[in-house]
Amino acid sequence: MVIVVVLVLLVIGSLLFHWLSPWWFTPIASNWGTIDTTIDITLYITGFVFVAVNLFLAYAIYRFRHDPSRRAHYEPENKKLETWLTAITAVGVAAMLAPGLIVWADFVDVPEDADEIEVVGAQWQWNFRLPGADGKLGEVDARYIAPDNPFGMNANDPAGNDDVLVSSNELHLPIDRPVKVLLRSKDVLHDFAVPQFRVKMDLVPGMVTYVWFTPTRTGKFDILCMELCGIAHYAMRGYVVVDTAEDFDSWLAEQTTWSDMQAIPAGNAIAGKDSFAVCASCHGQQGEGNVAMNAPSLAGLPDWYIARQLDHYKRGIRGAHQDDVYGKQMAPMANMLADATAVRNITAYITTLEASVPTSTLDGDPSRGASHYNSCGACHGAQAQGNYALQAPRLAGQEDWYLKRQLHNFRLGIRGAHKEDTYGHQMVLMARSLQDDQSINDLLAYLNTL
Ligand code: CUA
Repeated sequence: MVIVVVLVLLVIGSLLFHWLSPWWFTPIASNWGTIDTTIDITLYITGFVFVAVNLFLAYAIYRFRHDPSRRAHYEPENKKLETWLTAITAVGVAAMLAPGLIVWADFVDVPEDADEIEVVGAQWQWNFRLPGADGKLGEVDARYIAPDNPFGMNANDPAGNDDVLVSSNELHLPIDRPVKVLLRSKDVLHDFAVPQFRVKMDLVPGMVTYVWFTPTRTGKFDILCMELCGIAHYAMRGYVVVDTAEDFDSWLAEQTTWSDMQAIPAGNAIAGKDSFAVCASCHGQQGEGNVAMNAPSLAGLPDWYIARQLDHYKRGIRGAHQDDVYGKQMAPMANMLADATAVRNITAYITTLEASVPTSTLDGDPSRGASHYNSCGACHGAQAQGNYALQAPRLAGQEDWYLKRQLHNFRLGIRGAHKEDTYGHQMVLMARSLQDDQSINDLLAYLNTL
């Protein structure tokens, strides 16, 4: 009798949980209502079977409970019953699978008038490419990828010149326009998913996959990576902002094109040397750093990293937090560099400077620090040499007091909290995994040995 009650309560509880649960689909924002319908059909069929089977089980347990005066009737075969059960099951399974096939046929059949855009995934970032006025994306190839060509554009393909290259993790799309999203990965498997659009597709290195959808309401939606792609998989987030046509056009007009990018001349180290005089007053003549001025060492840092930090200082992405005492000093300095050319010149000069070996200023246990460094090494390299592909700067040769302050700032969100600082945001999550001051000291003591 107890089991009968438990079974009935299980059925009632499951139904109530389904109807009253707050965990349900996010409100849809695309044309893929049919995907919700197929899921509903599956839920109704499996739900009906679940209720029917469990209630029948409860009935059978009650009706045929043990009674010494009765004997079980032995009936090993019942052709008629088996035919019925097989037929009903077949209909149920077909009813669950058939709608999915119909929707899938639409899902892979892109409308003729869809706009083509590209989403590029890499550990652990989303970047985007939109065609310019010609409506055509230029040719790309992994072998063209370089610090000044992160998308791997083919410089000889004129169709690519007006391509809009979005290096932030925020994509804008116009409402009510069907869009075909081409998916490309630079390194490992990723998966592009926007829950409100009900779309999800793998990015596979070496091939171009796609999804299509029509955004049906304005708003800001999360892009999630849904393929385990390494240590910072959980931090691989981006955003889609669905705009009205006018808002979309004004956003698009502000973005950088491939020809804008190519127009910036290569860095001139001689010109950069002149502007470095100002930097040298804090960072030292050889960019060796100066603890008394709270200025880190610059020599040995890669040009792409220095350029990004200068750009962040200029745009208030770094050094704008009220508690970032030294960052606030650096921001006006970065603003003395007039434009992208000036930034390239100075970074070209800094890369000519010889890195010096820093002196350690902290007490730590390098052997314990080595295990803390495992997660850092996934991006910054086993020898802390840095890794351009992951946009992780060189740490070896950097002074420990500076790294310690940065780790503190990341932990407290003084650095890396700005929404456009996507790499900084990853560092916030990483820095918070260090337990205490001693772990930081141990880690930095280990770094000093590299
Ligand atoms: Cu990319 Cu998970």
